[in-house]
Amino acid sequence: MDKLIVLGLLVVGALHVGLRIVSAEKLELVYQWSQLRDVSRGAALPNVVFSSDSVNNSEDTFNTYGNLPMGVTHHKGFLYVTIPRRRPGIPATLNVIDMARNPSVNDPTLSPYPNLLVNTLRSDFAADPKRIISVYRTQVDRCDRLWFVDTGYLEYPGGAGRQVQRPALWVIDLTINRSVRRFEIPPEMVEFGWGIPNIEVDVDGSDCGRAYAYMPDYEQRRLYVYGLSEGRMWRFEHNYFSFEPRYGDFNVARQRFTWYDGIFSVALGGRWQESSTERTVYLHAMASVSEIAVSNRILQNETLAQLGNGVYGSAFRHLGARGPNTQSSSHAYDPITGVLFYAEVNRNSIGCWNTNRPFTPDNHGIVHLDNDEMIYPADLRLNRTAVNYRIWRQSAFRAAAGTICE
Ligand SMILES: *[C@@H]1O[C@H](CO)[C@@H](O)[C@H](O)[C@H]1NC(C)=O
Ligand SMILES: *[C@@H]1O[C@H](CO)[C@@H](O)[C@H](O)[C@H]1NC(C)=O
Ligand SMILES: *[C@@H]1O[C@H](CO)[C@@H](O)[C@H](O)[C@H]1NC(C)=O
Ligand SMILES: *[C@@H]1O[C@H](CO)[C@@H](O)[C@H](O)[C@H]1NC(C)=O
Repeated sequence: MDKLIVLGLLVVGALHVGLRIVSAEKLELVYQWSQLRDVSRGAALPNVVFSSDSVNNSEDTFNTYGNLPMGVTHHKGFLYVTIPRRRPGIPATLNVIDMARNPSVNDPTLSPYPNLLVNTLRSDFAADPKRIISVYRTQVDRCDRLWFVDTGYLEYPGGAGRQVQRPALWVIDLTINRSVRRFEIPPEMVEFGWGIPNIEVDVDGSDCGRAYAYMPDYEQRRLYVYGLSEGRMWRFEHNYFSFEPRYGDFNVARQRFTWYDGIFSVALGGRWQESSTERTVYLHAMASVSEIAVSNRILQNETLAQLGNGVYGSAFRHLGARGPNTQSSSHAYDPITGVLFYAEVNRNSIGCWNTNRPFTPDNHGIVHLDNDEMIYPADLRLNRTAVNYRIWRQSAFRAAAGTICE
């Protein structure tokens, strides 16, 4: 992670929730939008985002309020932005912003990636393994490959949700914009794919062919592992993947709600032990303030996974609690500074912990806390005029500077 990239969303009536703003200048705003609009179909307003070659899909007309960006990944001047299909009227679930072509902070153009056709739903909603249905978050590895899970699921409200096709892991080679692997996740592994929002990729230092994807499932509270050279997937189950009942209450911009989300994010850390080639994998549930660590050698062992929790259970270590209100969606590790960064939903902040220090609440800092601009989507009520989506960046080094994580 050379840059910390943050996608924030603002909801109507955003109000301070009583926390101090610390070092709000630390993150640099890269892009912002009020709403996503569709320029391909002649929308009149200026703050417009999608451009595409027109595909006639009158069944699925553009829905401004449905287009909520959820994930962003930076790679060599391109930002890959996802919009999961949780409402009808989303032209593309996977998009790219070419930063060189979008010098202005306001309303950059999202282009469907790798193209519009791959992103377009068939009008009869028939399964089509060549198309992508819904994506939450992506990851790019050191071999210029974009990894993500297509949930295959339309999470439309009002009982209109449907499984279009099996969830699938995709790997796209960004140098040629072509899919180099599509692995359909079998029903024996998971029945539905909508609980798989995140992905972490662990690539061998010298061999791009040896790579593993770690995919948490907050709904089933499992961790799936895919081996690229093995061409297979296996899974782990553990009590530590569950939510913690005392930490399920959220208060975001005065919206109160309770979540039961289990294991949500996995971050590949540094060395497991000083001398070893194993690496630490950090993970946590969303409705939780605990952090768990396991060696990547455990996760990569398919035989072990099949032997069951009784055999591998003790390999997962509970590091401790991060502190009050530190419930986190995604987290990411910076190998240069050794700092783990957390997106903290309940206090609209980016938290940090320097992994070279003991895991205690005191050693957890706040890089950026902003109750006006950095607000997680508590619900889908958007404001027409205010800026609702922002992308920030900062170097991990500068982000951690001046905090306990330095
Ligand atoms: C798009 O499809 C609709 C309905 O099938 C049709 O009426 C319209 O003419 C088509 N538009 C274009 C540009 O092909
Ligand atoms: C891949 O896609 C990007 C973004 O659309 C584009 O800028 C680039 O030229 C494409 N590369 C190739 C080899 O087609
Ligand atoms: C995988 O785990 C099994 C069972 O504990 C063990 O026998 C085997 O040596 C492990 N394989 C590797 C590569 O560590
Ligand atoms: C959106 O927010 C702006 C500024 O805070 C306010 O003036 C406007 O009435 C709001 N619009 C809606 C539709 O809530």
